[in-house]
Amino acid sequence: MKDKFQIEAYATSANLGPGFDALGLCLNAKNKIIVQRTDMHMEEENLFTKAYQKVFAEAKEKVIPVSLEQKMEIPICRGLGSSAAIIAAGLVAGNYVLGSPFSKEELLLMGTEIEGHPDNIVPAFLGGFTVSVFQKEAKQLHYIRQELSEQLTFCVLIPEFSLATQKAREILPTMIPRQDGVFNVSRSSFLTAAMLRGDLELLKYALEDRLHEAYREDLIPGFSFLRQKVADLDIIGSALSGAGPSMLLFVDNQKEKVESIKRDVLPLLQEATERSGVLWNYRFMSGCNEGISIAGEENYLA
Ligand code: HSE
Repeated sequence: MKDKFQIEAYATSANLGPGFDALGLCLNAKNKIIVQRTDMHMEEENLFTKAYQKVFAEAKEKVIPVSLEQKMEIPICRGLGSSAAIIAAGLVAGNYVLGSPFSKEELLLMGTEIEGHPDNIVPAFLGGFTVSVFQKEAKQLHYIRQELSEQLTFCVLIPEFSLATQKAREILPTMIPRQDGVFNVSRSSFLTAAMLRGDLELLKYALEDRLHEAYREDLIPGFSFLRQKVADLDIIGSALSGAGPSMLLFVDNQKEKVESIKRDVLPLLQEATERSGVLWNYRFMSGCNEGISIAGEENYLA
């Protein structure tokens, strides 16, 4: 164990439309977190500390304080897994400082318990596309992971305002009509099958949702307008990224398609900005098949 080490934690997108609280994937934008042992007290009120301290509590050990320096690429509270990345970093840091008493599976369960749902934490740890089942009472987490195809890339439309996940969850109804449940079961199953097969064309039929997106759109100025307009771009489909407010466009990774989207999305973002009064930007992010890592420790979580 070194006294100073660097963790790399990746962005993630959850739900992918219909797979509410179950599906997720890892994106190639990362926070670099330099962790250093210190004699100072740790800040109490942040997710890193909460996760870091949980590892010590589970190990029944006294907390060894560390300080952090962060270089952040993941936009905060934009539906791109910034919380999961920092929770994962806190867990990995705590485990590493303690001499690695816990397995990856145990850390994944701790992360899911902190976040309450597994759809960002699991791809943040493992990279790729993931399907997860969290059995809260039984304290069990099960998942399937698949490498993301290089044929797929993502254009993320990001508004200049943050949306707290808690707020975006509170707005959801507690009951849903049966036909909406049925609708989502078919899309979410189809999406999973298409991703496992690597048949990206099938995603076209798999990204619609009736459990959460329509309710959340009202919280995001410009979202509905953009959602309609991007349907005319040369994309595979679109989804609200996590709880929002960003939008994830699934894009065929051919050079000419990517170029056409870069060209055609700009005027849409300008119009959305004018109409909504909220600045909209875009960023291309490729899928990422690596999960969280410690620099210089290649197989730390293997
Ligand atoms: N599944 C979660 C939600 C992802 O939609 O609320 C956000 O953390």
